[in-house]
Amino acid sequence: MIYIIVRGHHRLYFYVMVSKYTWKEEYNTGVSFIDGQHQYFLNIIRDLEDIIEDSVCKDSASKIFFSLVHYAEHFLIQEEIYFKDYHFPNLNEHKELHAAFIKRVIQFKTDYQMDIQHTCQTMLDYLVDWFENHILKYDKEAIEYLREKGL
Ligand SMILES: [Fe+2]
Repeated sequence: MIYIIVRGHHRLYFYVMVSKYTWKEEYNTGVSFIDGQHQYFLNIIRDLEDIIEDSVCKDSASKIFFSLVHYAEHFLIQEEIYFKDYHFPNLNEHKELHAAFIKRVIQFKTDYQMDIQHTCQTMLDYLVDWFENHILKYDKEAIEYLREKGL
């Protein structure tokens, strides 16, 4: 979380909290349902960031797990179906990355029972890494291929 100073009326200045993890134009793939699921994922990161900031990991992390399960069950599967339908050549490799992600989330759920605060922070780092290295790289590459094929 970063803070910016905003000038209001009558020379009033106030601080506004801004997350680093806000959607940017360059994230768009041009395929709206994919962009929608990527935005959904970025919202999870932002929620988790807020939870850590407010030190309410213990009470609020279940919401994060719920959203991650939704992301995995709906969006990762949906992606795989599209990649298969369009004969994306790296489908198996991509599916393995998804499987590793799901496994990691399950592990976080176990770790969480033992060390709440630390798990929340580790999970945030992992999700940011997934966003930067899976969503913005592998997914984008795959979507470009699909678009060439007429999606
Ligand atoms: Fe993916």
